[in-house]
Amino acid sequence: MSSLRFCVTALLVCASSVYLVGGRSLPKNHVALFILGDSMFDAGNNNYIETTFRANYCPYGETFFKYATGRFSDGRLIPDFIAEYANLPLIPPYLQPDNHQFTYGVNFASAGAGALAETGQGMAIDLRTQSSHFKNVEKLLRQKLGDAEAKILLSQAVYLITIGANDYLNYNAKSISESKEEYVGMVIGNLTAAIKEIYEKGGRKFGILALGDLGAFFPPMNVATILSQLHNAELSKVLKELNIQLEGFRYAKQDINLTAAEILSNPEIHGFKEVATACCGSGFNRRNFDCGGKRGNCTAYEVCSDPSEYLFFDAYHLTEKANKLIAELLWSGTPNITGPYNLKALFEA
Ligand SMILES: *[C@@H]1O[C@H](CO)[C@@H](O)[C@H](O)[C@H]1NC(C)=O
Ligand SMILES: *[C@@H]1O[C@H](CO)[C@@H](O)[C@H](O)[C@H]1NC(C)=O
Ligand SMILES: *[C@@H]1O[C@H](CO)[C@@H](O)[C@H](O)[C@H]1NC(C)=O
Ligand SMILES: *[C@@H]1O[C@H](CO)[C@@H](O)[C@H](O)[C@H]1NC(C)=O
Repeated sequence: MSSLRFCVTALLVCASSVYLVGGRSLPKNHVALFILGDSMFDAGNNNYIETTFRANYCPYGETFFKYATGRFSDGRLIPDFIAEYANLPLIPPYLQPDNHQFTYGVNFASAGAGALAETGQGMAIDLRTQSSHFKNVEKLLRQKLGDAEAKILLSQAVYLITIGANDYLNYNAKSISESKEEYVGMVIGNLTAAIKEIYEKGGRKFGILALGDLGAFFPPMNVATILSQLHNAELSKVLKELNIQLEGFRYAKQDINLTAAEILSNPEIHGFKEVATACCGSGFNRRNFDCGGKRGNCTAYEVCSDPSEYLFFDAYHLTEKANKLIAELLWSGTPNITGPYNLKALFEA
């Protein structure tokens, strides 16, 4: 009788500390990483859609991967470093045809994407579609693991999101009838909808990037400065509200603007020699967005010899060095930069 009770108890202990994944068991503290966003996070999804928003040609990727994976950088992106710090493998793009293994997470991000469907329409996977791809993965995980185990995986996972920059950089591009406040409200509204959809499927831990000063970094546009300020204020407000509304919701928000201010005020301390000129491109400060020249012709572009001295790799995208710094601050930054949690705390919780 007592030995039977022992066995039952032991089984329960076993069942709660491991769960089966395709015949293997993952440890209880297995934390997957799901990624949504734009070119800051796209690890190659755009290679598999009809688009010109691609970085699958040289000199992209050469620092780390030695070939162009589709990442808009000389090397790794922020989620690649987060995966490393969390002892996860590189998280593959959702559209990569040989990728059927979602237990470590998956990357839905798409270069050119926005929170609004109109942003990069027909050229990128918008946030709503990324969120529907997440729902497909959620279904597949439930089929594979069963409802209970899938729920555990999804609730322990971290969801890393960056969105909005393309919506605001597009603000000038066409005539927009909404006021700036209304426009920001739509972007934040759609971001909030995506977060709530993930929450409904079991997601609890979110890592969200606020925006840098878009007007300062990109071809001078005061309106982008104002839009990014409005966005950041609204984002802080909404995340605090979700924290109250949604039980168990926890988040790490990084103030990229502060991180950028810190880098720009002490570039040498962080190992940067050049923060204005991009490594790759043409024209003034190489800020024409034509890195890679004729898209495939590996002789027709200007590129620096050491990307690690630069903040920007091309006109719009950071070097691996800058991505690593942001990732470090996202992982273990103090609450004035990344808060209320940092990602390390969310992965360990
Ligand atoms: C997001 O914004 C677009 C406007 O571009 C709108 O049509 C769409 O319904 C919104 N909602 C979600 C959840 O994406
Ligand atoms: C960036 O930080 C500065 C200084 O705190 C602030 O004045 C500015 O509004 C911030 N910009 C954005 C886009 O958050
Ligand atoms: C690549 O660009 C260079 C310089 O503009 C040019 O001389 C060369 O013919 C181009 N090659 C191809 C394959 O287009
Ligand atoms: C954030 O706080 C840390 C210590 O808690 C401090 O060293 C750092 O200078 C602060 N950074 C900013 C940008 O306020």
